[in-house]
Amino acid sequence: MSRTKPTSRFIIFSTLTLLLLFTLSSSVLSSEPVNGDDEDSEGIEELLALDEQADQEEEQQEQGVRSSEAELLTKAQRIVVELNGDNTKRVVEGNEFVLVLGYAPWCPRSAELMPQFAQAATSLKELGSPLLMAKLDADRYPKAASLLQIKGFPTLLLFVNGTSLIYSGGFSAEEIVIWARKKTGVPVTRINSVAEAEGVVKKYHTFAIGFFENFKGPDYEEFVKAAIADNEILFIEVNNIEVAKVLFPDIKATKSFFGIVKSEPERYTAFEGTTFEKDKLLQFLEYNKFPLVTKLTEINSVKVYSSPVKLQVIVFAEEDSFQKLLEPLQDVARKFKSKILFIYIDISDENLAKPFLTLYGIEESKDTVVTAFDNHMSSKFLLELDPTPSNIKDFCSRLLDGTPAPYFKSQPIPDNTDATIQVIVGKTFEDLVLNSPKNVLLEVFTPWCINCETTSKQVEKLAKHFRGSDLVFARFDAAMNEHPKLHVVDYPSLLFYKAGDKTNPIKLSTKSSLKDLAGSINKHLKARDKVTKDEL
Ligand SMILES: *[C@@H]1O[C@H](CO)[C@@H](O)[C@H](O)[C@H]1NC(C)=O
Repeated sequence: MSRTKPTSRFIIFSTLTLLLLFTLSSSVLSSEPVNGDDEDSEGIEELLALDEQADQEEEQQEQGVRSSEAELLTKAQRIVVELNGDNTKRVVEGNEFVLVLGYAPWCPRSAELMPQFAQAATSLKELGSPLLMAKLDADRYPKAASLLQIKGFPTLLLFVNGTSLIYSGGFSAEEIVIWARKKTGVPVTRINSVAEAEGVVKKYHTFAIGFFENFKGPDYEEFVKAAIADNEILFIEVNNIEVAKVLFPDIKATKSFFGIVKSEPERYTAFEGTTFEKDKLLQFLEYNKFPLVTKLTEINSVKVYSSPVKLQVIVFAEEDSFQKLLEPLQDVARKFKSKILFIYIDISDENLAKPFLTLYGIEESKDTVVTAFDNHMSSKFLLELDPTPSNIKDFCSRLLDGTPAPYFKSQPIPDNTDATIQVIVGKTFEDLVLNSPKNVLLEVFTPWCINCETTSKQVEKLAKHFRGSDLVFARFDAAMNEHPKLHVVDYPSLLFYKAGDKTNPIKLSTKSSLKDLAGSINKHLKARDKVTKDEL
């Protein structure tokens, strides 16, 4: 089974929500065991091999071979306790805080998460966190896995005095650290010196900063509530204006201040609301936490899809072309800040790019493509001009005005001269089916549907049988074409469009025999004749 093949339902709806479902389901697929030598699982084998090499490398280190990235990782791996059939219960129940990673060696997503987890373990140790980090090969120790209720891979669970809490943070090392600290009693990090502040700036990509005179009062209380409720952003508090300026240079020395800092061109954003309320602070972060242009990855996809910014412009490009476009694109993004979310997808990353491009029938594209989704309206748009910064900017302005027509995919208009069965595409559906004065029998199929071929053969026979009658036979490939007035979810479908009333096509059973089908077509044709005669 192919991961990128769209389902029939997928063609009809076009919201990111569904894309999300699709991506998730493809992740589930990708977590199934793969036969043979799967490239994706190489990562984890390397990691496991690292464990075994540990002693050897230590020797080398003593001989003066200095720290490589691999060695750092190896060290980190050793901070992580390995759970097994014997120690799992004891470790989980005997410690106040245990963060468990349930993985399977063959699962590529586990392989992706493992080094982040190990790195987080090192950082947490340095920070003096009471949290114990542990990993369990759930494939090898299924009993221990079921004891902890680990069902999929990878799974992260925090055990607090033996009771589990579902992980709700991000999946980079930094985000794991932040989440773990929030859930183990350190929701806010207090920074007292310029040196500490400089350390934070160096170390963290994104953080929220609160400035409060005495760490007291209702504003401060709301700030702490927000810090606890948020699952992914580091909250920093300061009360010294000189220290605060290292973190947020333009800070206004008011009584209370809140802002977000990101390591990107749009670095500093201050909260401009007048009242500090937990929900307002959180909403401010939701709208401002993404960089001007976010690169979509497996790791951040869920976070991106759940953004409250429902208008999303997606640029698909090769990495090189994108680097050239990035700066002008950031300028465009700045103009539409918190109204449009700008996303970049590497067009050569098939698993990420293809499900989107298929929605436009352009899955073979290699050049830069700019699309948009409006998740309120569930509609999709395509920039059909050159993807220059100024065209992208106009496209965005029109999206906000609501002027561009949603995109419906269509193959080029075919030549139907002499065809027994007319080929209908997205662009001709209106003219040749809805506006045609004739009866139309439309076969809607997809290339991959199981029974479509059988139905196609029947339709060919029927077309011959009814040749010369007032009935046009037509065919519509729903994988390559769409029309807003054609709502089909099952393939194949046979729709009888009556002359004079095209709004409610009659659905014929594709399970009927040829004879029954011919019978019902005759009946519908006669019904119409009768109506017209009565009217006369
Ligand atoms: C865990 O249990 C210990 C001992 O009963 C208790 O002191 C501690 O507060 C508990 N921790 C949490 C986070 O509930």
